[in-house]
Amino acid sequence: MGKYRGHPEAVRALVRETEVHRDVYTDPEIFDLEMEHLFANTWVHVGHASQIPNPGDYVTTTIGNQPVLMVRHNDGSVKVLHNRCPHKGVKVATDACGNTGKFFRCPYHAWTFRLDGSLRAIPLNRGYENTGLETSHAAQGLACVKNVVNYRDFVFARLNDTGPSFEEYFGDSLSSFDNMIDRSPEGKLEVAGGVLRYMHNCNWKMLVDNQTDTCHPMVAHESSAGTAAAMWKPFEGTGAKKPMAVEIFVPFFSPYEFFEGMGIRVWDNGHGHTGVSHSIHSDYSAIPGYWDQMVAAYGEERAKAILGEARHNTVYWPNIMIKGPIQLLRIFRPLAANRTLVESYVYRLVGAPDLLLERSQMYNRLINAPTSVVGHDDLEMYERAQEGLGSNGNEWVNVQRLYDPQEAEQKVAVTNGTNEWQMRNQFRAWSKFMTMSM
Ligand code: FES
Ligand SMILES: [Fe+2]
Repeated sequence: MGKYRGHPEAVRALVRETEVHRDVYTDPEIFDLEMEHLFANTWVHVGHASQIPNPGDYVTTTIGNQPVLMVRHNDGSVKVLHNRCPHKGVKVATDACGNTGKFFRCPYHAWTFRLDGSLRAIPLNRGYENTGLETSHAAQGLACVKNVVNYRDFVFARLNDTGPSFEEYFGDSLSSFDNMIDRSPEGKLEVAGGVLRYMHNCNWKMLVDNQTDTCHPMVAHESSAGTAAAMWKPFEGTGAKKPMAVEIFVPFFSPYEFFEGMGIRVWDNGHGHTGVSHSIHSDYSAIPGYWDQMVAAYGEERAKAILGEARHNTVYWPNIMIKGPIQLLRIFRPLAANRTLVESYVYRLVGAPDLLLERSQMYNRLINAPTSVVGHDDLEMYERAQEGLGSNGNEWVNVQRLYDPQEAEQKVAVTNGTNEWQMRNQFRAWSKFMTMSM
């Protein structure tokens, strides 16, 4: 037993109403407990069904630190399997994605497994006759993750047998997924192209905190977005067409009042979003033909409601964020207390003009890529924080902005967009899901 293992009260003491102890970001034991409890008790995003359109298609990924496979079964369903041979433990697949045909074959001794993970065949089978293999763990094949939900092609899994149902866990927060998907005239998204991967030497929760941190863009992004804004200034009001890149950059440099006015909403279990009334994506120029397609699909009133949603970043606790208006999803993959891999995906709106996808991809490159001119501003802050938290001058991180002692009881609310309410909401959920199975 360590300082925290077996001591749920010590874990709970790390999160106060308006402060969080540095150990939640820096302590390797806390990181291990997050993998064992937090990432097992919550519904974690695994992948998108469009990544595996045909039977036998699979992707390899992780839930917390658990290696898993997401695979398309013969019956069309999506299965999530532990990526671990029941014989000697070898990872059965290591490619990022592929098609395995009718079965998986372990590269060590060629045991084979059906697409639902069940054991298909063992070479030189007679060596197991009368050994009772059929009652062993090995005979069960690749262990299946039992709790899997495919929500409109977004696949989620919960590793622990007990815990909140998918509906209880997400509740009304699914409205952000609905809005992103409904932006397709056919109500369908497809992963477009590959994924941008960006390694960060910091704790994964620093990235999650940042998604609703609206007091940093005008400061931390001054050198990037601020430069773009300054370059565009002479052309303002001249009738010159604003380049797409300028449209994307400039809103980051909006004043505090812009972010205060955009609002924030939180839901139970750590989910929440900024951009209730407007966001940095609100003023992008219209894409020719798109409105007409949406009206034809949904009728004018509904099309207006769908496209009128201004949601900026929606955090789905624990480790993803989506941007509905530009069909983008980021996953913050925890690798160690001080190491996080960020993956950014963009989706094609099926049935919508290609120019929309072009904008999403440009946004992803300009803001989220390792070569971007905005993402590294944030990275620098996270890595400085990871180092700064080692200082013994103060052990606490502050999340007090616009704190209201009644807020935990309020179910849904809309308020000042610079409120750190969603950060506090996340840490309440952190405490709950860390300790519910300890
Ligand atoms: S380890 Fe997989 S078949 Fe032996
Ligand atoms: Fe940022």
